[in-house]
Amino acid sequence: MKALVYHGPGERGWDTVEDPAIVDPTDAIVRIDTSTICGTDLHILKGDVPETTPGTVLGHEAVGVVQAVGAGVTTVAPGDRVLMSCVSSCGRCRYCKEGRYGQCLGGGGWIFGHLINGLQAELARVPFADNSVYKVPEELTDEQVLFLADILPTSYEVGVLNGLVAPGDTVAIVGAGPIGLAGILTARLYTPGRIVAIDLADSRLESALRFGADETINNGSQDAVARVMELTDGLGADVSFEAVGVPETFELAADLIRPGGRVANIGVHGKAASLHLEKLWIRDVTITTGLVDTFSIPQLMRLIASGRLDPSLFATHRYPLADTMAAYDTFADAARTGALKIVLQGAEANAGAVGDARVQVAAVA
Ligand SMILES: NC(=O)c1ccc[n+]([C@@H]2O[C@H](COP(=O)([O-])OP(=O)(O)OC[C@H]3O[C@@H](n4cnc5c(N)ncnc54)[C@H](O)[C@@H]3O)[C@@H](O)[C@H]2O)c1
Ligand SMILES: [Zn+2]
Ligand SMILES: [Zn+2]
Repeated sequence: MKALVYHGPGERGWDTVEDPAIVDPTDAIVRIDTSTICGTDLHILKGDVPETTPGTVLGHEAVGVVQAVGAGVTTVAPGDRVLMSCVSSCGRCRYCKEGRYGQCLGGGGWIFGHLINGLQAELARVPFADNSVYKVPEELTDEQVLFLADILPTSYEVGVLNGLVAPGDTVAIVGAGPIGLAGILTARLYTPGRIVAIDLADSRLESALRFGADETINNGSQDAVARVMELTDGLGADVSFEAVGVPETFELAADLIRPGGRVANIGVHGKAASLHLEKLWIRDVTITTGLVDTFSIPQLMRLIASGRLDPSLFATHRYPLADTMAAYDTFADAARTGALKIVLQGAEANAGAVGDARVQVAAVA
């Protein structure tokens, strides 16, 4: 089969590799029809994720059709169309029993395209298939559910739910990349009073308005704290999400919050950030952290099916799966290309009639 293979920092290829086979009785083999690229894949390519070894197939978000299952798989069968989550679950360990699959102790957690071969490929071996894949209802296209593999549950669980977003709240979201934008979409499920998006890139702030932000602040040219205080009678936001992953945005997210408010950190941090306890101790502030568990996939899928959550805005570009190399170039150059998420379509993708005039269909070279 063909797959996008990581060959060490800065190196990747669309290579011919051996077809995956069932190893454990709980495995399934899935034909990948629709996949996508995550900012985390770019981190791996930079060499920021040393546990991912050269030779690993990348990708942790996909939809496909089951081709074969191991003897121990009882709830999915060949022919089933399934969503594969960025987080796998053994279903048996203490954390999986609590629905905290991200912390799985039994071999699950974030493994695709990280510790085992991933989903930017024609076929994939999917461990713990009974606990880790989600059947896709007939009426939904691959693309409608694709972003449930990572960004939507991440922002919903680690942002909205950890941050206890409530009706009427002012929600300040620092970072308007795919994660911050998914934070806007899923915060709206709780009818906040106002969503304020903060980013250095005007193009991302324009996206934020399309996704439903009420106010935008370019913190490169404006004082974000002063503006949020102005909007909230000097109190600060009820909830802030950190959706970037650098020290200054964590510190900004903490500065934006009102006494009694909540800071929900979503960003992946590689460096120490300062926690200003000397300012915060007296303000009754709650700070949460988290790795996504994806326990909310079924709930969010129901919202998509009922038309109350529409992730189609994320799909800015589409490429054939065979052009994954070119898709990476487009995704990595988001400042110029405006890419949010790129849909990679295999020959048998269930594409349906999703999308609208905003979607640029990438030219096939
Ligand atoms: N906790 C989890 O489980 C989880 C899961 C997935 C992703 N993440 C993390 O979420 C973060 C966001 O992901 P993404 O895919 O949206 O990333 P992204 O890089 O596409 O977007 C980040 C955005 O932040 C903006 N930005 C950069 N520096 C800024 C600054 N100083 N002030 C304001 N804005 C700034 C950029 O312009 C960009 O729009 C990343 O750290 C990612 O690793 C966490
Ligand atoms: Zn991801
Ligand atoms: Zn487990």
